[in-house]
Amino acid sequence: MLVLGIDTSCDETAAALLQDGRDILSSVVASQAIHAEFGGVVPEHASRAHIRLIVPIVEKAIADAGKTASDLEAVAVTNRPGLVGCLLVGASYAKALAYSLGIPVVGVDHIEAHVFAARLENPEMRLPAVCLVASGGHTELILVEDWGRYTTLGRTRDDASGEAFDKVGKLLGLSYPAGPEIEKLARGGDPTAFDFPRAMMQRGNFDFSFSGLKTAVRYAVEDLGGRPEGQEFTDFLASFQEAVVDALVTKTMWAAEEAGVPTVALGGGVAANTHLRERFTEEAARAGLAVVIPARKLCTDNGAVVAAVGQALLDRGVTSGLDLDVSASREEARAGRESSA
Ligand code: KG4
Ligand code: ZN
Repeated sequence: MLVLGIDTSCDETAAALLQDGRDILSSVVASQAIHAEFGGVVPEHASRAHIRLIVPIVEKAIADAGKTASDLEAVAVTNRPGLVGCLLVGASYAKALAYSLGIPVVGVDHIEAHVFAARLENPEMRLPAVCLVASGGHTELILVEDWGRYTTLGRTRDDASGEAFDKVGKLLGLSYPAGPEIEKLARGGDPTAFDFPRAMMQRGNFDFSFSGLKTAVRYAVEDLGGRPEGQEFTDFLASFQEAVVDALVTKTMWAAEEAGVPTVALGGGVAANTHLRERFTEEAARAGLAVVIPARKLCTDNGAVVAAVGQALLDRGVTSGLDLDVSASREEARAGRESSA
């Protein structure tokens, strides 16, 4: 089965073609440059950019796969959670396309799509698993009992981990999104040079908090009389990155131990971070756990993981009607919008 996956939940316009839930025939992601000017995502600009980009991006995904629109057999689209104006562009387009082609449309949860990166990369992975989804909008520890059966073990109480990177980057005069740049600039730095806080580090507490870390960074800059320079700046960023990674990795391993799972997995844009990937691998090995870390392009927002969730829903006979709605939150949209065939 050939499924088109579309994601317009935030500032990336993404489309991909997935064959039989496994083979990524194409994946096109347009990152909207306009937000760098403002140091963060401006929802109204993002919606307008999606409107301009959605048609050419989907057409490119179809062409890159060597297919035509009439080859498509279903359309999967992120309909929750995200920026409502952005989600509406993708969902409206997906419904219109599916209607015109006479094929089903299915709404997909963006967080579940991030979890599915692990399954796409490693279909044989052993469940249950604890999956850390760390992105610009979310930071959640999810117990994957089976595909489609999840329990949220913990989540951030304030900023998401990617948001922490972006806000600290803005404070330090780096451009948006700051995660990749901080990773680059922190290379070769001493992660113990600055003692930044890790919040809520009690065993059994799987929630996260990153706003205190952000404030600590601001005070540290004030104490230093401005942004540090040279090696001190490298050390500063390495120490900040270490604080985020430490909280994420430690809590994932605690959760895996408590849940008694054989596998841990990563997903979400922050999972592109090399330091996180390395520490996650090391700590999982130490705990005797199997580890699934998807390719970077499957961690950041993309259409392939949306198509993968769509395929799994279709396999269970789940489709959405043309009244498919969008929602800023996960829970609201859960009820009643999907119907089993
Ligand atoms: O999953 P994603 O592409 O979009 C959302 O669903 O939010 O995640 C984007 C977030 C941004 O906050 C970005 O700064 C962060 O992921 N990010 C990184 C790296 N690459 C992307 N953070 C740290 N290190 C990276 N290499
Ligand atoms: Zn995302």
